[in-house]
Amino acid sequence: MSDDTWHFAHVADHHLGTPRSYRYRPTMARRWRGIRRQIIESRPELLLVSGDVTLDGDTHEFEYRNTREDLDTLPFPSFVVPGNMDVGNKHTRAESPRNDRSDVALNMTSHRLALFAGYFGPIQWTFVHRGVRFSGFYAAVAGSGLPEEERFWRFLEHLTKLPPARLHVAMMHYWPYIDDPEEPTWDITDAEQYLPWYFSIDRPHRRRLLDSLQAAGVTNLLCGHVHTGRPVERVGEMRVHKTPAAGNTAQMTGRWDEIETRQGFQLCEVGEEEITVTFVPAEDQSPVTDAWGPGGHPRLEERDYSPAREQPPLAPDPWLIGEGEAPGTQF
Ligand SMILES: [Fe+2]
Ligand SMILES: [Fe+2]
Repeated sequence: MSDDTWHFAHVADHHLGTPRSYRYRPTMARRWRGIRRQIIESRPELLLVSGDVTLDGDTHEFEYRNTREDLDTLPFPSFVVPGNMDVGNKHTRAESPRNDRSDVALNMTSHRLALFAGYFGPIQWTFVHRGVRFSGFYAAVAGSGLPEEERFWRFLEHLTKLPPARLHVAMMHYWPYIDDPEEPTWDITDAEQYLPWYFSIDRPHRRRLLDSLQAAGVTNLLCGHVHTGRPVERVGEMRVHKTPAAGNTAQMTGRWDEIETRQGFQLCEVGEEEITVTFVPAEDQSPVTDAWGPGGHPRLEERDYSPAREQPPLAPDPWLIGEGEAPGTQF
């Protein structure tokens, strides 16, 4: 790198998890440890983390602590937004045809968002470093009707009124759209459209989001969630980077010809005029052969914690199973 540039790193979906849970992927944790080492060796000034920092943080507060302690030992600051596996999914009132989950039960809650913020800081933030603005948020609150949705739209409006920065990097978890910014809202009740629905922001919120980001002069939008990388896309002047996972396995891989299914991280080199985003594949691309427990979103009552290989095993946080009182239920 030349002397007048500097760089930061971006990761998504490392899903650290813990061996105390009903499911775990030791390979994923090992991949992350390798990627983590590669990032440290690249000497970034900061790390942006696009969410899904846990495997089951939506039910285990312990996973927040585990990931927080891991990020705290990095030799540079990290800035985090939540993912759906950390705080719950974007909201739906309808159920999908899938019988392996209740989508309504997976809706994010204010309590989980507040709990996440207790470990990782505010769920939306903006700051300037070396003349570059960095903004992070959880766009999946859009359409939830939760108080956080109102705060989210206010935050986006606020971004448009800040003094313009030379470059503006925004980060979120979900892809704003699957194939086209103008595509319709995908239908959760149609099995063929379930995954596109699951991975994207619904159209009216997406349009408002993208308009706000463009008005705020965002030059680079970073996101994760699908675990599969795509060539850089453009929405007007804004570049959209769909980042592969830093631990978990690629999804929806049959949909496109040009995909990146390797794990790794994005090295983002900041120049005077633009940011060059380069994917760095993990040196360890081992297949997952040592997993235990189911994938997807099994219902709480269907989880078996007895296979946990580290003791004591976790259990879902008490208020999720109707025992005890959730702190923060006033939200
Ligand atoms: Fe993920
Ligand atoms: Fe996700």
